[in-house]
Amino acid sequence: MATKRTPFVGGNWKANGTKESVAALCQTLNSAAVPAGVDVVVAPTALHIPFVQGNLSPDYQVSAQDVWATDGFGAYTGCLTPAMVSDFGLKWTLTGHSERRHTVAAESSQLVADKTKAALDAGLNVILCIGELLEERKAGKTNDVCSEQLEPVLSTVDPAAWSEGRIVVAYEPVWAIGTGETATPDQAEEVHAFLRTFLAGQPNVGEAAAASIRIIYGGSVKGSNSSELYSKPNIDGFLVGGASLKADFLKIISSVV
Ligand code: PGA
Repeated sequence: MATKRTPFVGGNWKANGTKESVAALCQTLNSAAVPAGVDVVVAPTALHIPFVQGNLSPDYQVSAQDVWATDGFGAYTGCLTPAMVSDFGLKWTLTGHSERRHTVAAESSQLVADKTKAALDAGLNVILCIGELLEERKAGKTNDVCSEQLEPVLSTVDPAAWSEGRIVVAYEPVWAIGTGETATPDQAEEVHAFLRTFLAGQPNVGEAAAASIRIIYGGSVKGSNSSELYSKPNIDGFLVGGASLKADFLKIISSVV
């Protein structure tokens, strides 16, 4: 296979874990070394972050699951600010996860863009999640939805973030998240290829940066389907939910080496 971009595997633990199960998961992950040349980033709940930082091998990087759109600190009850996440030594946050856009909050793409900008401005790298609902796919609107979700980000963040590789785009079709129904490798590749071409055509990104941006796939990724998905030229890794809570995550990591 032609050399792709540095592979990226994210584990989104969502609102899962007890003290005991998180400790056991750290032990499971510590039983395997992170392969050289792969970025592996896990996103525990905010409560579990310090424990995970202290108990997980530093080869794994730790991410927040979301941040509020502000600099510094302030009156944002229930939120983490990018400055706070950075103060704890984290280098990553997710933004725009579909559960924030559609399930636990109704975040607009502009709010997601503002959060992404705030995170980048605080020195964090961002796993920016986008993806269409089932009815949008059925209506043939997948590419439109994905580009509409990207547009506010394109006009809001410092363009240098794209060429510096500080934004990883996670394409996660909502109908494939947590459902066991994965996009086929061809379905995923079609959207990833579209996204790369779309980004290449943006004045704030351009061809060289678009060729270097990591576009990862999320939605029922498992050890049993990750190799085939990764064999596609525009799929640079994964954002994994359910399977990131199990030893199967190690299999997914080894499939991108
Ligand atoms: P899933 O979740 O792997 O459980 O489908 C993916 C995600 O939400 O990032």
